[in-house]
Amino acid sequence: MASSQYIGALDMGTAKVSILVAELSPPSRLKIIGRAMVPSRGIRKGRVLNVREATTCVHRAIREAEKSAGVNLKSLYLSISGSHLKGELQVGKAQVSHSARIVTDYDVGRAVEEAKRRDLGPDRVFVQYIRNPFLLDGKKVDEPYSLRGNEIQASFWAVHADARVLREQMQIVNSFVSRIDDIFLSSLVVGRVLTSEEQRQSGVLVLDIGAGTTDFVLYGDGYVLMTGVLDVGGDHITNDLSVAFKIPWESAERLKVDYGKATPVEGAGDDWVWLRGDLSIGDRRFSKRAIQRVIHARMEELFQLVRRAVLPVLEREDLRCSALMTGGVTRLTAIENLAGQVLKMPAATGRNPDWVINELQVPEMSNVLGQVQFALQDYSDSVSGSRKSQGLLGKVKGFWSK
Ligand SMILES: Nc1ncnc2c1ncn2[C@@H]1O[C@H](COP(=O)(O)OP(=O)(O)OP(=O)(O)O)[C@@H](O)[C@H]1O
Ligand SMILES: [Mg+2]
Repeated sequence: MASSQYIGALDMGTAKVSILVAELSPPSRLKIIGRAMVPSRGIRKGRVLNVREATTCVHRAIREAEKSAGVNLKSLYLSISGSHLKGELQVGKAQVSHSARIVTDYDVGRAVEEAKRRDLGPDRVFVQYIRNPFLLDGKKVDEPYSLRGNEIQASFWAVHADARVLREQMQIVNSFVSRIDDIFLSSLVVGRVLTSEEQRQSGVLVLDIGAGTTDFVLYGDGYVLMTGVLDVGGDHITNDLSVAFKIPWESAERLKVDYGKATPVEGAGDDWVWLRGDLSIGDRRFSKRAIQRVIHARMEELFQLVRRAVLPVLEREDLRCSALMTGGVTRLTAIENLAGQVLKMPAATGRNPDWVINELQVPEMSNVLGQVQFALQDYSDSVSGSRKSQGLLGKVKGFWSK
């Protein structure tokens, strides 16, 4: 946890870099005191593509956040995304060694060790092991200690990353603050902030559809069963419109934001819309039906990709879940209908927590709000001495110092 009483959460997105600053007063009271959101440059899909541009815009966001909060940020939390993050289920088994078949620490330790035994090769680093339920003789158990059985199985949803991609991002942040408190998976922070414990128990799929990526996390029985990142987002729609209508990117972005709808126009009629609508020379008319057809095709494909990714886990767990969505693209009209149809589950746009002010009740802020929530948990655990595991940053640092 930060040595100061401030939490700074940084999201380096494709469209915007945002920071939220919260003040913590013991034991664990939290107040949002500042924020910044600046257009992103040099960062795409969770990767730094241009160090100089990325550095400039992160610096600008930090300065604005500090000014708005009236404090100097000495450290920051950071979320990570991008398709360089790969997740997989890792399983390990051990025979129960006690003569009376009572499961001990030793048996669980061997199963866990086997589950985590995997060589990634150079350049990749495990960033998160998320524990799934144990199986004792094939039956799910949360805590196997002291139960009777023959075979214990441990499993983890393990996520690994490209070390170079992480290092580049962290170096930029480290050039402005003396420390990164921890790094979080974007899908997890968003998943946590949008869902209740009850939803995570009954099964929920959370999607964060941004400009360059779609991060998702699937929960069931209270566990994180799967996370993933697809390199598809709102920029694809803009690009499609730009190509389809032979118009510049900025004009395509405006058509999308002003007239975008995820489902196609029904009925025979059509509406025509002007790009600028100010009678200026060069202004053009576009068919709403054509705009929506382009958007629908891309969004349908995106939800199909998500469905394909989660289907094996839905089937394995026999999970009937619902979907919650956030991220800038969820501002598209009728996105819930399309998501519901393609994902084949009830779908809705998620809500940020009720305790935040109206200006933070926007889909672009879910990530930093989730980070603050995780950081608060981190703080409570460190105060109560119950922090069980080293944070994600500790693992990554360990990798680099090898
Ligand atoms: N009204 C709208 N209709 C459709 N799309 C919109 C609307 N408003 C914003 N968007 C799109 O949302 C995207 C930005 O969302 P967001 O801020 O969540 O992305 P990001 O976090 O910067 O990117 P990523 O997480 O993918 O790296 C852009 O593609 C933008 O065009
Ligand atoms: Mg994002």
